[in-house]
Amino acid sequence: MKHLLSLKDYSKEEILDFISLAEKVKKKPRRYSKKLKGKTLLMLFAKPSLRTHLSFDIAMYQLGGHAIFYDLSHSVLGEKESIKDFSKVTSRYVNVIMARLYGHEQIEELAKYSSVPIINGLTNFEHPAQVLGDLLTIKEIFGKLEGIKLTYMGDADNNVTNSLIYACPKVGIKLNIICPRQLKPKIPGKYSLSFNPKDAKGQIIYTDTWYSYHVEKSQYAKRKKLLRKFQVNKKLLGNAKFMHCLPATRGDEVTDEVMDSKQSLVYDQAYNRLPIQQAILLKLLKY
Ligand code: NVA
Repeated sequence: MKHLLSLKDYSKEEILDFISLAEKVKKKPRRYSKKLKGKTLLMLFAKPSLRTHLSFDIAMYQLGGHAIFYDLSHSVLGEKESIKDFSKVTSRYVNVIMARLYGHEQIEELAKYSSVPIINGLTNFEHPAQVLGDLLTIKEIFGKLEGIKLTYMGDADNNVTNSLIYACPKVGIKLNIICPRQLKPKIPGKYSLSFNPKDAKGQIIYTDTWYSYHVEKSQYAKRKKLLRKFQVNKKLLGNAKFMHCLPATRGDEVTDEVMDSKQSLVYDQAYNRLPIQQAILLKLLKY
């Protein structure tokens, strides 16, 4: 049994397998429509979600299975109930669990005691399902991954950045990170790092919100000031394609002009969450 907690734990071949299965499901959805018949996915959310929630729910339905949404604000997890007990109980009811949590150590604890695969639907540290979907989008647009140059711009002490750091070098994408000194990545990896927005280069500019779910509201004004120079606007984008995992704060990390431009891939990225979740579910459940 394998969990999907971090892309650090996945090889190049396994990552490419997810992508090629997602491509197959996208091409011939009917072939997969009964593969997970009788199977149940439990979706746990400690933070808000639009794309992850909908795409996993619809993915399960389209594969013939069933998804249960559970808002963790309704539970006493971590207070009256330990993650261990929670995991041992829930994993006996269902076949697979997807969880969006705060601390990455919480999802590791959940996985430690689970009898079924656990999928990371975002922690403060990583967002692997997002980045797998993004690789599918890049492959569709450029016809390949190997040799593509991607600049990540903005808050780089960030879950999406960490998943990019783990995945990009494995599939041959050259990753360049541009961020304020105070928000540089905390993990080592094969990427180039700059603190100057003018160093943006490559076929893709990727950014994420300056206000991730786990960032306290009291920090917003400080971050806005710190990150202002790293906004992706038309001039900075040049001829590159634009990517963003969403939700986007238009006017902050990205301008309306860029979001709505023909170079923007954001809605393709959002859509591709669906086939990639299908591939993830199929693979982890060994369909
Ligand atoms: N970095 C963002 C990603 C949202 C999908 C956050 O954690 O809120």
